[in-house]
Amino acid sequence: MKHIEWDSSNDTGIPAIDSQHRQLLLLLNMLGKATDGNEPDEKLIAILARFVDSNELHFSSEERFMAGMSYPGLDDHKKEHANLMSYVRHLQGNLMSKQEAFTPAIMLYLAKWLDNHLKTADAAYVEFIQVQNKKSSRRGLLPLA
Ligand SMILES: [Fe+2]
Ligand SMILES: [Fe+2]
Repeated sequence: MKHIEWDSSNDTGIPAIDSQHRQLLLLLNMLGKATDGNEPDEKLIAILARFVDSNELHFSSEERFMAGMSYPGLDDHKKEHANLMSYVRHLQGNLMSKQEAFTPAIMLYLAKWLDNHLKTADAAYVEFIQVQNKKSSRRGLLPLA
């Protein structure tokens, strides 16, 4: 499957968030590579479990972060995360029960979802935080990120 390069225009400038985003793409590429290399199912399932866990961890850290900033778009953002989680959990179940195989179309769908989410939903909260930080520093408070 095609290796997908990280698009550096998706960097948020928040180191913890950027490393989690890059990790998601890394795991997606690992899934593609394991599928191409005909690795045993257990290996694919183990990588997919890491991918699912990393999404969960990332989404909950982002949601805590947004809640801490009283971000007004939090509920809509949480819905996008929840939709993706239900899709990847469904996929995980199908792969484990061999009802479905990991295909280039699935990989492309997940990569596109990530790219689109980073460019829209994540970019929106990052912009909100930057504006809040500017206001805080004008008031003489420490920047938050
Ligand atoms: Fe997000
Ligand atoms: Fe994110």
